[in-house]
Amino acid sequence: MGEQQDAITLAPPTEPLALDGFILRLPNNDDIDLLVGFGDDPDAAETLWVPIPSPCSRAEAEERLREFIDGWSGRSTFGPTFVVADAASGEFVGVVFIRARSDAAVEIAYGTAPHHRGRGIATRVLRRVSNWCFEQLHAERVELLISKGNIASCRVAVKAGFEFCGIRRTLVPGTAEEYDDLLYILQAPSRPA
Ligand SMILES: CC(C)(COP(=O)(O)OP(=O)(O)OC[C@H]1O[C@@H](n2cnc3c(N)ncnc32)[C@H](O)[C@@H]1OP(=O)(O)O)[C@@H](O)C(=O)NCCC(=O)NCCS
Repeated sequence: MGEQQDAITLAPPTEPLALDGFILRLPNNDDIDLLVGFGDDPDAAETLWVPIPSPCSRAEAEERLREFIDGWSGRSTFGPTFVVADAASGEFVGVVFIRARSDAAVEIAYGTAPHHRGRGIATRVLRRVSNWCFEQLHAERVELLISKGNIASCRVAVKAGFEFCGIRRTLVPGTAEEYDDLLYILQAPSRPA
C-alpha cells in the first residue's frame, strides 16, 4: 500500500462510464417515475437494493432523486450515486453509491433491479467503478461492507477481485447500538514510481 493521501476530491465524470452493454450515468429526472414503480415492488423493501420508501410517492421519489444528485456535491447521506442503465434501451437496471473517506479509501454499495440479477451486472459494475475510483479519484483502496448472510453480495465481491478482511463493527451514532459487517477490500494497483 502506498502513502496515505489527503481526503479524496470527488467530481462527477463529464461523460457516462461505458461498460460492455451498460452505462453508469448520473441520476436525472427521468428516473422519478421508475423510483415510484420500484416502491411498489416488495423486493425493494426486502432487499433495500435501492434506498426508497415502500411504497414510494412521487414527492418522496423526487426528494430521493435530489439526494442522489446532491451526493455529488457532498450534500447527501447517500453519497455520490450512479445509475446503471442498459446502453441500448436506457432501462434502469441498478444503482451504485460511493462514499469517499478521509483516509484515501472509498466505500462502494450497489444494487441490481430484481429482474436483472444473476447476469453478472453487479460484478462488472463493481469492477468498473472501482477502477474509476483508482484512476480518477486516486483512491488507495475500495472497501465493501456486506451484511452477514448476504451471500450474493459476497459472491460479487470475490468475483470482482476483493479480499475478505474480517469483520467491521459500526457504532450507530447517538445510540449504544452496534452492528457487524463483513469487510472486503480491493487495493489499488501499484502505480509506477
Ligand atoms: C447483491 C446483488 C447486487 C447482486 O447483483 P447481480 O447483478 O445479480 O450480481 P452478479 O450477477 O454479478 O453475481 C451474483 C452472484 O451471486 C450468486 N447468488 C445469488 N443469490 C445467491 C444465493 N442465494 N446463494 C448463493 N449465491 C447466490 C449468483 O449465482 C452469482 O454468482 P455466480 O456468477 O458465481 O453464479 C443483488 O442481489 C442485489 O441487488 N441485492 C440486494 C441489494 C444488496 O444486497 N446489495 C449489496 C449491498 S453491499
